Amino acid sequence: MPGLQAPSDYSNEPPRHPSLKINSKEPFNAEPHRSGLISAYVTPVDLFYKRNHGPIPVVYDIERYHLSVTGLINIQREFSMRDIRDLPKYTVTATLQCAGNRRTAMSKTRKVRGVGWGIAALGNAVWGGAKLADVLELVGVSKLASTTSRGGKHVEFVSVDRCKEENGGPYKASIPLSQATNPEFDVLLAYEMNGETLNRDHGYPLRVVVPGVIGARSVKWLDSINVIAEESQGFFTQKDYKMFPPTVNWENINWSTRRPQMDFPVQSAICSLEDSNVLKDGKVTVKGYAVSGGGRGIERVDISVDGGKTWIEASRYQKPGVPYVADGINSDKWAWVLFEAQVEVQHSAEIVAKAVDIAANVQPENVETIWNLRGILNTSWHRVDVRVGHSSM
Ligand code: MTE
Repeated sequence: MPGLQAPSDYSNEPPRHPSLKINSKEPFNAEPHRSGLISAYVTPVDLFYKRNHGPIPVVYDIERYHLSVTGLINIQREFSMRDIRDLPKYTVTATLQCAGNRRTAMSKTRKVRGVGWGIAALGNAVWGGAKLADVLELVGVSKLASTTSRGGKHVEFVSVDRCKEENGGPYKASIPLSQATNPEFDVLLAYEMNGETLNRDHGYPLRVVVPGVIGARSVKWLDSINVIAEESQGFFTQKDYKMFPPTVNWENINWSTRRPQMDFPVQSAICSLEDSNVLKDGKVTVKGYAVSGGGRGIERVDISVDGGKTWIEASRYQKPGVPYVADGINSDKWAWVLFEAQVEVQHSAEIVAKAVDIAANVQPENVETIWNLRGILNTSWHRVDVRVGHSSM
């Protein structure tokens, strides 16, 4: 791996913001506090959640770094960072969300395995880089191709980090070729985040960003791209990040029966309130985020102050201060919306948020219906308790 090295231990980790809530130290997994998460439409890099499976790689010589593109293609080629930067540059505002977002709440129903995440394992960034479709064209794979002449149907991204799940080997994952070659899916090889050079935690020098898809497919510290016939055989595509029904447990699980999860479903959460709140008066501002996968934007967000019996509609804004325009053209189709509602609470209340996407998909009411042993994709209605007065809850 020229120019890019994977440390074998955690002695050379980058500096991190002290306010992050650390869910695991080694590997480093952390999320911002919920109230900070929604203070900006574009999440500042140092407050963006960090999800790692091993020590953070180091670039020791950027001049020697190159990305190799190999596999079932007619032209095998290596790209330097200069080659990638010479390609047309695109900026895409996209929300990256870990499939494990809100896992801790799922464990309250029945224990699940995995890093315990609160409600902030996601962030919205402006990613800058080359389109994967342009890179693939340079190795002889035409735009919109769903198979190559040599039988390639999937695109595998391979990193350099050492993950215990891969027995010390690198993190890898794949997406379908048809998604990689379609410029409308905006799959990027990103070297910038929010207008700055990507930092080490988020994949310097080059990472994949697959908008609208669970974060696991957006491979960081990219070393090679392989065009292959089947999905990646790596752990994170075959034995993780799959959605199982509530009946499946660790005794009867058969990983090969399920597809690797790609798009994430419609999601929302209230960030201006904690799980339990004691407030001085009954006027409550409810603010949060809503996002859907697959480029399906958010149609509306409903708020209830009686546990879901009656609802009011929240106002949404793409960017704080800029009202949502219902013109059918959503220029930020990969990005979250922030919502806000003013509500009145008498004594105590369960405040609930549920989002609806443009395909009219709605979040499920209860976590029990979507419980799965790995605790992924907890998109159940988000509920918080509020009590007015000084008594403790
Ligand atoms: N890429 C590598 N090389 N190693 C990793 O551990 N984690 C994945 C993905 N890409 C991971 C990776 C997961 S599960 C998620 S959710 C996102 O990166 C998190 O990206 P972030 O840390 O930039 O927020």
